[in-house]
Amino acid sequence: MRDRHHDPRCLGGEGTMARIARILAARAIDPATVPVSDAPEPIAALEAAEARIPARYRSAVADHPKAQDWVRAVAAQAAAPSKGARRQVRTGPSLLLVGGTGTGKTHLAYGALRSLVGAGVGVRWHATTAADLYADLRPRAGVDTEQDLRAVARIPLLILDDLGAAKTSEWTEEITYRLVNHRYNELLPTLITTNLPIRDLRQTVGDRVASRLAEMTERVVLTGADRRRGTTT
Ligand SMILES: Nc1ncnc2c1ncn2[C@@H]1O[C@H](COP(=O)(O)OP(=O)(O)O)[C@@H](O)[C@H]1O
Ligand SMILES: [Mg+2]
Repeated sequence: MRDRHHDPRCLGGEGTMARIARILAARAIDPATVPVSDAPEPIAALEAAEARIPARYRSAVADHPKAQDWVRAVAAQAAAPSKGARRQVRTGPSLLLVGGTGTGKTHLAYGALRSLVGAGVGVRWHATTAADLYADLRPRAGVDTEQDLRAVARIPLLILDDLGAAKTSEWTEEITYRLVNHRYNELLPTLITTNLPIRDLRQTVGDRVASRLAEMTERVVLTGADRRRGTTT
């Protein structure tokens, strides 16, 4: 049996892993659902991530089993850029979170992000709604929007919220295609939300995008009432 006094993780009476698990639990991240791993200290990373998460979703929890599976899969594929370095999110599966307005899609996306950060792997991430993305990428003087598109396309983890909700044009379809195609080709984990039924999504984003999404994402369907309008039966 292990003598706790000879286990360096137990110095101070509480093991590092136990302490991290306790702190994660206090932040409503169930340590059992994430592979609390080789992280020296995921708590600081979690605080840094939470500072960038919109206030409403700062304590969001990934309470859907498919989201928890996604966290495990992405964490398992994380790789260290060099020997001894911290593992970073590289490739992994993607999720398409589908459901009506207020069913908790954005909440679940941020919850999954929090779980992933809490799992201890390094995550460079960006979150945007499709509408904001199109606005940011509108060609205009003095801004290299091509470079901006490349940066979003290459970010290791992208949350693309409300796909199909913005007004579309040939230009938005092309931007969406280039973004999704890059992430499809490079197997980059992406959390996409939409309140359109799949048939309408195909119409809105076009066949090329819909076809890639069908292959690269696992679909998570959220049902129920609009949570913003209070509880109903
Ligand atoms: N699982 C959940 N537990 C607690 N609150 C939730 C949960 N899912 C969503 N909410 C809350 O319900 C509201 C609507 O959720 P949101 O994710 O914004 O919906 P959607 O993106 O599907 O329109 C928000 O205030 C959100 O914080
Ligand atoms: Mg939303």
